[in-house]
Amino acid sequence: MTAAGLGVKAAPFTYAAHALAAAAAVLVLVWCVGFRGGLALEDQNKNLIFNLHPVLMLIGYIILGSEAIMIYKAFPKLNHDTAKLTHLILHAVATVLGAFGIYCAFKYHNEAGIANLYSLHSWLGIGAISLYGVQWVFGFVTFFFPGAAPGVRRGALPWHVLFGLFVYVLVLATAELGFLEKLTFLENAGVDKYGSEAFLVNFTALVVVLFGASVVVAAIAPAHVEEPQGYAPIPIN
Ligand code: HEM
Ligand code: HEM
Repeated sequence: MTAAGLGVKAAPFTYAAHALAAAAAVLVLVWCVGFRGGLALEDQNKNLIFNLHPVLMLIGYIILGSEAIMIYKAFPKLNHDTAKLTHLILHAVATVLGAFGIYCAFKYHNEAGIANLYSLHSWLGIGAISLYGVQWVFGFVTFFFPGAAPGVRRGALPWHVLFGLFVYVLVLATAELGFLEKLTFLENAGVDKYGSEAFLVNFTALVVVLFGASVVVAAIAPAHVEEPQGYAPIPIN
């Protein structure tokens, strides 16, 4: 599904998205490793287990999922079957890393004696990754194996794109709530509201918003902008 009427090509938005993805990945690592003490699956310091959560959700889930969405526009000359296979594999890897990131949040809560699933962030998070799984299964069955009849595929594609982007935006909103929630916890525990860590976390969340916006425009904009039919830059007569 494309909106040729936008009059812009997808390519520049994919470049912007790649750059913003790299920036977001660096920022979340600087935060979790540089400010929060590092990452660990097993440690006496349970906060290190928590730190895996934002890193996996952002780099593993959001960035890989975004690259999966952009594959058709980032490499418009790629053979369509190869693009489709890459799209479905990247989405699958993203979902697995996202599920592992959520497991880390639960592990941290359980080992630190904190209740589970009490926040809007956690509810939206469970909802978002579940819908993502449903979207993947529907996509797989319709467009890959066994694959629906051509007419059904044609009818299903705009819904696949619409629902895919809806779920993607839900994932982004969940991450934004996660940054807000964690920073609020830290500020309540004494982190300076105008200090460098607070700016770093808020800035990371802003970069994620700009990143997500670029991905959505790249998905909606066409790979090529065609001249409107019948339009000739220089009149023939
Ligand atoms: C889209 C990506 C994300 C999803 C799907 C997600 C999902 C979840 C889930 C399901 C929990 C509940 C764990 C439990 O109850 O034991 C949780 C906890 C938490 N997450 Fe995330 N998360 C995401 C990204 C983030 C990010 C980027 C941060 C930033 C720091 C974050 C911060 C937190 C915090 C502070 C908790 C513990 C408090 C709570 O349960 O709300 N999350 N997350
Ligand atoms: C949670 C997983 C998935 C999400 C969020 C998702 C999302 C999207 C989005 C947003 C687009 C539009 C991209 C664009 O027009 O530039 C798209 C296109 C597409 N997706 Fe998925 N998708 C998922 C899984 C799958 C799976 C498993 C398949 C199976 C092969 C699949 C097959 C396709 C196809 C064939 C297109 C159309 C490409 C074209 O326009 O030629 N998707 N998907």
